[in-house]
Amino acid sequence: MGRRTADDAESSTSTEAASGSWEYQTGYDFVVVANRLAVNRVANPDGSTGWQRSPGGLVTALAPIMASSEGAWVGWHGAADETLQPFDHSGLHLHPVPLSEQEVEDYYEGFANGTLWPLYHDVIARPHFHRHWFEAYRRVNRRFAEAAAKVASQGATVWVQDYQLQLVPQMLRELRPDVRIGFFNHIPFPPPGLFAQLPWRHSVLRGLLGADLIGFQRDSDARNFQRAVRDRLGYYIKSDQIYVPLEENHEAGSPLGGDPGRGTAPRQLSVPVEGSYRVAEAKAFPISIDTDRIVELANDPKIIARAAQIRAELGNPKTIFLGVDRLDYTKGIRHRMKAYEELLQDGALRVGDACLVQIASPSREGVASYQELRDEIELTVGRINGEFDTMGHTAIRYLHHSYPVEEMVALYLAADVMLVTALRDGMNLVAKEYVAARKSGDGVLVLSEFTGAADQLRQALLINPHDIDELKASMVTAAKIDPEEARKRMRSLRRQVVSHNVQRWAEEFLQRLREQ
Ligand code: G6P
Repeated sequence: MGRRTADDAESSTSTEAASGSWEYQTGYDFVVVANRLAVNRVANPDGSTGWQRSPGGLVTALAPIMASSEGAWVGWHGAADETLQPFDHSGLHLHPVPLSEQEVEDYYEGFANGTLWPLYHDVIARPHFHRHWFEAYRRVNRRFAEAAAKVASQGATVWVQDYQLQLVPQMLRELRPDVRIGFFNHIPFPPPGLFAQLPWRHSVLRGLLGADLIGFQRDSDARNFQRAVRDRLGYYIKSDQIYVPLEENHEAGSPLGGDPGRGTAPRQLSVPVEGSYRVAEAKAFPISIDTDRIVELANDPKIIARAAQIRAELGNPKTIFLGVDRLDYTKGIRHRMKAYEELLQDGALRVGDACLVQIASPSREGVASYQELRDEIELTVGRINGEFDTMGHTAIRYLHHSYPVEEMVALYLAADVMLVTALRDGMNLVAKEYVAARKSGDGVLVLSEFTGAADQLRQALLINPHDIDELKASMVTAAKIDPEEARKRMRSLRRQVVSHNVQRWAEEFLQRLREQ
């Protein structure tokens, strides 16, 4: 099995990148396929570039499984028009998939983040439907499927991740019928009425149904998917088991072009004849965080000291409210700021006593709706600070940066109230990280009921972020909460997060996949 190290990774800027052919055959028993590779490029002090393992929970959860089962990770390395050879880093076998500049525009910024992302998040922003975006999505999904097909050993397990790659399971099944295929959707799956807007809805459903197990964050997501399958394809479904007919050629386009099998199909009312179907299961597996790592950092004296320093630098206010989000319109950052501004106007909160720290990490800056959101948020922050700041204190400390996990944990320790006001969120891991970090048992989590996390974190102060009065009331309640009540709630939240970490999530998914 040929392998190279990161230092050997060759790059080219050729647009032939798009053809993505591997030089040698490998055979890995466990293959993860995700839009992003498990490493990020970093600049070294001497000006050269290197790689760093991604800090996210998914990589943390899967790295030990990869190490023990000879696994490989297939994904895009984040730069356009560049082809890299497979390489090893941090104990991971990495197989970079190239994307051209045009594909980044049409597949990543276009179909994934200009069509699917808004459609799957309750159309908070308007989804754009362009046929050439979908064509790029299909082409890139095929490239990922081919890359996975090349590296998977006979009978391997292949786990495909997220909405960017929904066509991969079916494409992979056609290339490699011997492998076991799992898919996990990290974002919500929309209600059938919204999903129905998608001009390529049948292709997407069939793409997903190529998997043996299709995981979702919430029960409601799994139900939405099952209803879409029942309504659009008419397949028989019983107890999360979907009976997928074998004779259909899932990838064949309609003779008229476009989405195969337009319209609704007659519903199958009984179990089809034995041998005429295969079974795909669709159910919820709520993801979590690397709890031990967060707890360990929360106990680190350096990080505890940094938390105290953050409080002091903010002028030791009585209440620090904290928001930590990718700068995304799904996160309800405007709603949070509106509520906070009104509380300052009403006199319910006073600058000096209260401070809102908003971390907004840069995200998808090539997409117009993200650029507009940034302008709007920054205008709002400027207005609020202009009106309410004093010489010594600020109303909102706004930071448009990403921070390492150590700094995040210091912020969690410094914050009295964590504000998670997403309008729709597959899970929201920040909510879980805050809870994990609050070892002392104090601190209050204000949590939108439109997050997946709200299904598990029932003892948070649950809110509807569209209801500004309710949000304001919860923020005041959180600031003035009886410490015993806060501790009681935090104890219960911590029990949940400590007993359901991301390692358990991955094990449960893979165990179920093995049983399929
Ligand atoms: C969400 C998605 C991930 C995605 C991440 C960051 O969490 O579920 O698939 O990787 O956002 O977005 P980006 O577009 O930068 O990969």
